[in-house]
Amino acid sequence: MKITIQEAAKHVNEEVTIGGWLANKRSSGKIAFLQLRDGTGFMQGVVVKSDVSEEVFSEAKNLTQETSLYVTGKIVEDTRSDFGYEMQVSNLEVIHVATDYPITPKNHGTEFLMDHRHLWLRSKKQHAVMKIRNEIIRATYEFFNTNGFVKVDPPILTGASAEGTTELFHTKYFDEEAYLSQSGQLYMEAAAMALGKVFSFGPTFRAEKSKTRRHLIEFWMIEPEMAFMDHEDSLKVQENYVSYIIQSVLENCALELKALERDTSKLENIKAPFPRISYDKAVEFLKEKGFDDIEWGEDFGAPHETAIAESFEKPVFITNYPKDIKAFYMKPDPERSDVVLCADLIAPEGYGEIIGGSQRIDDLELMEQRYKEHGLTGPAYEWYLELRKYGSVPHSGFGLGLERTVAWLSGVEHVRETIPFPRLLNRLYP
Ligand code: 4AD
Repeated sequence: MKITIQEAAKHVNEEVTIGGWLANKRSSGKIAFLQLRDGTGFMQGVVVKSDVSEEVFSEAKNLTQETSLYVTGKIVEDTRSDFGYEMQVSNLEVIHVATDYPITPKNHGTEFLMDHRHLWLRSKKQHAVMKIRNEIIRATYEFFNTNGFVKVDPPILTGASAEGTTELFHTKYFDEEAYLSQSGQLYMEAAAMALGKVFSFGPTFRAEKSKTRRHLIEFWMIEPEMAFMDHEDSLKVQENYVSYIIQSVLENCALELKALERDTSKLENIKAPFPRISYDKAVEFLKEKGFDDIEWGEDFGAPHETAIAESFEKPVFITNYPKDIKAFYMKPDPERSDVVLCADLIAPEGYGEIIGGSQRIDDLELMEQRYKEHGLTGPAYEWYLELRKYGSVPHSGFGLGLERTVAWLSGVEHVRETIPFPRLLNRLYP
């Protein structure tokens, strides 16, 4: 019977066949330990000289890394390994011999690994990160579907900018100028007026000249938008959503977290509610900490965010930023027009901002005034104003950056390892 490694637990003491690749190998005169991987997981196959034909043993000893093969044998429990099972191999059949696989168990430099990303993805660590990414996506759909949200897909090719014009990718759209989407938000606001509570999940693009561990040129964002919900309501959804994905990853990715040596004690207690600090208080706090490079009205950089996050064990919301450093659509605080009803959610352990969100301006006149201040004109923007013309309601939304969240939960240093094929400032291949 053909099974996958993932199904091994259901076939203890049975003779089965697994199609896979040789990830690594150790052998002595009498025994060969094959590290097998099949896409669903990693498992050891043990080939004992006295139990197999001479031909099979010699083939096992000569297997090269990443050779593809079918292995047949009995699944047995193996309490010493993280996986818990191994195969006592009785036969193997080589499908394709791999020679001179470039990624060996020795240490390679990052650029070398990035040049071989198409192969690097096969490693145990990268496999674990991709599985955690998948679990976050799965839990995201589950969370929003069970909470009454409808999935809506905004366009990727757009005629308008959502997050400022300096980071736009331009492209030709027949005779017109178009951009790759920086955020689906404006469309999601229209969708919320049609469907109430909506969320999107898709790629977004920022032509940012930032070369940091947190920046990608192409990244995936989850963007919920909710009619009849104010800023406070939105913060509650955010903390419940983030708690939900953490608990899902802890529950369903134990093997992967172990393979990554993630200290899960840092995640286990992260449950809603999350602490909050206003921008005003955050500036005061930073000054007390000795940061003399920040004044009220300036945006925080990574060192500022990290210093704030360090005083909390859970993610922290920094709320009510000055209006002038935030996007045109954010609603001013009714009690103080120099700040807006927004929040950034900063992850612990230096992983930085994972969510940006706000209550949106719902007043037509104020939105028209903002358009003037930001020089937004033309048909690409007019439709957005109409949302404030016909039955405008209070509404809020946010965007969670998938890759930064994967980096945090996996405990990997750099976002380049959290997306299958990262697009970075100097990298478009593979
Ligand atoms: O704060 P941002 O720019 O918010 C928006 O785009 C809003 N329109 C979202 C909304 O309200 N619907 O981005 C949201 C999140 C950030 O918190 C961060 O996690 C991620 O997107 N992000 C990036 N991730 C990787 N690389 C980049 N260059 C990123 N820029 C933003």
